[in-house]
Parts: sequence; C-alpha cells; structure tokens
Amino acid sequence: MGEIVRLQKYIAMSGMTSRRGAEQFIDEKRVKVNGKTVTEQGVKVEIGCDKVEVDGELLKINDKKIYIALNKPAGYVTTVNDQFDRPTVMDLVKREIHSRVFPVGRLDYETEGLLLMTNDGDWANKVTHPKFESSKKYYAVLKGVLTIPELNKIRRGVVIDGKKTSPAECEIMEIDMGMTLVEIIIHEGRNRQVRKMFEAVGHTVKALKRESIGIVELGTLPEGRWRYLTSTEIEYFRKSNNEGCVKS
Ligand code: URA
Repeated sequence: MGEIVRLQKYIAMSGMTSRRGAEQFIDEKRVKVNGKTVTEQGVKVEIGCDKVEVDGELLKINDKKIYIALNKPAGYVTTVNDQFDRPTVMDLVKREIHSRVFPVGRLDYETEGLLLMTNDGDWANKVTHPKFESSKKYYAVLKGVLTIPELNKIRRGVVIDGKKTSPAECEIMEIDMGMTLVEIIIHEGRNRQVRKMFEAVGHTVKALKRESIGIVELGTLPEGRWRYLTSTEIEYFRKSNNEGCVKS
C-alpha cells in the first residue's frame, strides 16, 4: 500500500502549485480523483494507486526538487501564464529548467530583483507563510525628498488597505536630484506593500528592487539570470520555525 496523503499535499508534491494553490484548484472544481470531480476539501489519496488530474492533466509525483533564485527584470509578470500575453518569469528559466517550477510569492510587473522559484509546494509554503515572516530587503527610489518624520512613520508602520504594517527597518542611502534612495526591510508580503507604504507618506516609488529574502541574496547575479540555491539556503526555509527569520 502506498502512502495516504491529503489531496492538496499530493498536488503540491507534483510540483504544480503550493498546497494553498491546490485548495483553490479543488474549490474551482478543477481536480478529479479516479475520474470523479472532487467537490470538497479533505479528500485523501494513496500515492501510486489513485489517479489525480488537474484540468484533465494526470499528475505525476516528481521526486527531484528544484530551488532557484532568479534576478527578475522589470517588465515580466510573476505568473506561469499571463492572460495579456506579457513576458513571464517562466520565459527566463524554461530553456534550461525542464521541471515545472513556479514562482514563490510575487514581484510586481515593474519590480526587479530576487525571486525564488521551485517545484516544491511545501517549501514554497514555508517561504511565503505569514507565520514565518521572512525578512525581505528592497532598494526603492522615491520621488521627492523623504523627511525624517516620514522615515520614522515608515519605521513604526503605516496604514495600508486599512491595516497597519508591522515595524520596518528603513535607511536613507542617498538624496539626489529631488529623489531619495532608501533601503527598507519588511517582514510581511502584502500586495504592493513597499509602494503603498511610501504612498502613505506622500512619495511615489519610481523604481523598486528586491535584494534579499531571509539569507538568500541577489549578490552579483546578472539581470534575467538564475542560479540554484545552496543547501544552506534551502534548509534555512525548511527549518523555519524559524531561527533565521527575523521577527520584530
Ligand atoms: N512591494 C511592492 O510594492 N512591490 C513588490 O513587487 C514587492 C514588494
């Protein structure tokens, strides 16, 4: 008898998406087990015995896990397929990576920098789960000169989408030609968070780049290129309960 697992775990193990993504597929009635559409959460399946399909595609459990860091250029969407046919981050890896990896979390179309990708749904959950609060470092170019009171507001937290952001580390790196370059480290991953935080104190973000997530750094990786994560980097998130994740 094969191992019995929850359906969403099975789908995540196939590398198609994370467990949460799989739950959504189930809600959307896109999943069949042994030819029958699944209509509720909580179904269990046996590995090597039950036949699981998503959108009619039979899933295979893929043992070889892949973990990569990509330097995403601006002008790419962080999705596997784009409804408007814009370039996606998949276009940057598919020539060399033949397993089905997917982006871990997201960067806006205009944002550059570090994006993690994997085919390990459980690991992706650990990286993005709000409970683990991985620290994310960005460089942002702001329109206008950020004042010290505004800087302090960003550090203490500002209200975006009706909820205060948690304390952030933020430093002014340079002020030039009416623009301010800042470094900001946040521990959440809300939608367009950095842009909205600076908007909340009256500054538009003109350029944004993610430099690091936890211990994984962009370093000298050229724009549009990727590298495999080291075992230390992979384990850092796997062990996350998390000594490495900074909690403020
Ligand atoms: N914050 C943003 O505003 N955009 C990103 O892409 C990432 C963080």
